[in-house]
Amino acid sequence: MSDAMFEAHDISPRVGTRITISKADLTSGKYAGDIEELLKTRSALVFKELFLEDEEQLAFANTIGTVTLLGDDGVSKISLDPTVSDTADYTRGAFFWHIDGANDVYPAKATMLTAKTLSEWGGDTLIANTYAAYDDLPDADKELLSTLKVRHALEASQRMVHPDPSYAELQRWRTRPSQTHPLVWHHADSGLKSLVLGATAYYVHDMSREDSDALLCRVQEWATQDRFVYRHKWNVGDLLVWDNTGTMHRADTYSLESKRLMHRTTLEGEEALG
Ligand code: OGA
Ligand code: MN
Repeated sequence: MSDAMFEAHDISPRVGTRITISKADLTSGKYAGDIEELLKTRSALVFKELFLEDEEQLAFANTIGTVTLLGDDGVSKISLDPTVSDTADYTRGAFFWHIDGANDVYPAKATMLTAKTLSEWGGDTLIANTYAAYDDLPDADKELLSTLKVRHALEASQRMVHPDPSYAELQRWRTRPSQTHPLVWHHADSGLKSLVLGATAYYVHDMSREDSDALLCRVQEWATQDRFVYRHKWNVGDLLVWDNTGTMHRADTYSLESKRLMHRTTLEGEEALG
């Protein structure tokens, strides 16, 4: 008999649950069904000071989805240091609310980070539950948003970091996929609806620039109110997993010189954004 343990404690009413489980039970998949269910309903799951090694993180990830291989073994380093990560420049884009892969047809199902090195200050990770944010919208806004389509592009998020790009840089951004998505994602399996916004949201179709900017700003402010947001304050060894299909997330500012290091694994999107 193993002394299996699985405990889940909600951190706030609308978002975030802390799970206590052993490494062995996590990586074996014994509670994979419970974890997948909690991921959908609670948006962000915290496993405190679990200290997963990369192989253990991959083993766990494979119990709840299909690991995305981005020219690596499924674990990538998130760092602002270009000698540690060759996508360090994009890491700065994470300071703004976003959905991973919102400029793809199938945004990632979930993303997970294990903290290896902390920043000296700042660097919390925030997750906003956009199912709850949609749910609480006044009916008039549900009606207004129901038909809107939004262009998502890497260019939009990169402009926040590099507001004055060279033309070559602009052209480089434009080699990356961009998509038009409904502002309200109707999830076919659950019947739930979530809001699709964030730094990749470039403009609302068929609207003036002024109206589009104002609408995206207003809805994002709504969706990121404290009651929809979980703020994770890291300890080394923590594992944080978020459902990337019904949330937005961001990193709170930390020093650009910081050695903050996260080991990240992403799960393939399983549902087209529609
Ligand atoms: C990410 C991300 C936030 C953080 O890895 O996709 O947005 O706090 N990370 O590092
Ligand atoms: Mn991200």
